[in-house]
Amino acid sequence: MIIDIINKKRLGLELSYQELDYFFNGYLNGDVADYQMSSLLMAICINGMSDEEIFALTKIFIDSGDTLDLSFIPGNKVDKHSTGGIGDKTTLVIAPIVASLGVSVVKMSGRGLGYTGGTIDKLESIPGFRIDLDDSEIIKQVSDIGVVVTGQTKDLVPMDKVIYALRDVTGTVSSIPLIASSIMSKKIAGGADKILIDIKVGSGALLDNIRDAKKLEELMIKIGKVYNREVRCIISDMNTPLGMNVGNGLEVLEAISVLKGECHNQGFVDLCVLLATNMVSMGLDISMDEAEKLVLDSIKSGKAYNKFLDLVKYQRGNIDKIIISKNTLEVKAKSNGVVEAIDALEVGKLSLDLGAGKVKKEDKIDYGVGIVLNKTVSDKVKKGDVLYTIYYSKKIPKLDNYKIFTIK
Ligand code: URA
Repeated sequence: MIIDIINKKRLGLELSYQELDYFFNGYLNGDVADYQMSSLLMAICINGMSDEEIFALTKIFIDSGDTLDLSFIPGNKVDKHSTGGIGDKTTLVIAPIVASLGVSVVKMSGRGLGYTGGTIDKLESIPGFRIDLDDSEIIKQVSDIGVVVTGQTKDLVPMDKVIYALRDVTGTVSSIPLIASSIMSKKIAGGADKILIDIKVGSGALLDNIRDAKKLEELMIKIGKVYNREVRCIISDMNTPLGMNVGNGLEVLEAISVLKGECHNQGFVDLCVLLATNMVSMGLDISMDEAEKLVLDSIKSGKAYNKFLDLVKYQRGNIDKIIISKNTLEVKAKSNGVVEAIDALEVGKLSLDLGAGKVKKEDKIDYGVGIVLNKTVSDKVKKGDVLYTIYYSKKIPKLDNYKIFTIK
């Protein structure tokens, strides 16, 4: 039976709900081996899945664990997810903005994967910050302050945890049907009525072309319809890192600068405003124009930053104790010119090698290391100008291995 299912998918045939259920739950129970599941995942990666198969897989994922019931909270509950990238700290900015405008946000975030950082790792750079809230703590907090950002509870879509870990090491991460069911199962189980997805495209993302991003968008909207959830998607660039700071503590500081209205990276600020505006528009059922005014006002008036402070305090963090490494190295331009590109993937690799992420499961993250970009795309540079600053704690990897800036 197991081998018949693998063969069927290898031949590009459609699997039934029963076959998918048997195989995936068999894996969760230990009856299907890693190598058999890897083989099926690769066949899915190569031959794709029909919409019916994707709907079935999403249901199997959701049914593998508990679902959070947020129906007791009045109004729309809006969730947001990013497919992941380098320097993506938008959740830290937009969750408080949206909550400050009366839309409840329960956000369960993930850890870093490969070169991309995870929101939970960033939050852990705030000493004391709790990321392991259980269902009753989540419900109490969202009732009290309207916003929670925590790790995925252990009982929510356990199937995704095991399949994702296997995909990560079997070259099957970028399969569109697998991404769609992974994301949508978690968002639906997390109890949101409305869902915003930031689909990242570029060298530092899972997807490297707009055509695939559009396919993913279409699929997630269709899955949303099956579960009666409004889904909106934004497709945004991940060829260049998001913002100027990459590395856990450094990214929290940059998120705070946006909330205080002090961030000079307009591209990053604009993306945060766009995402928050969509969430507020969905949450309050108002137009994008009206929502944008509210979002900008929340930042300007300090309401958004105060909500961030409430969130950190409630989850027992202390932003005054964030530690950034004191060891720095400035990397300078070797010639005059204009910055043509800053490669997100290369920045991600350097950040990982500095210790900001994990190479092996048992590695410890160094929250104080990372990179601050001193120039952005289109900037003019003169020989000797600082291009980027490395914050390191142990040793600096050989910089010739990273081609971060292209200057023409
Ligand atoms: N994010 C997820 O949660 N799942 C994927 O498969 C890809 C990005």
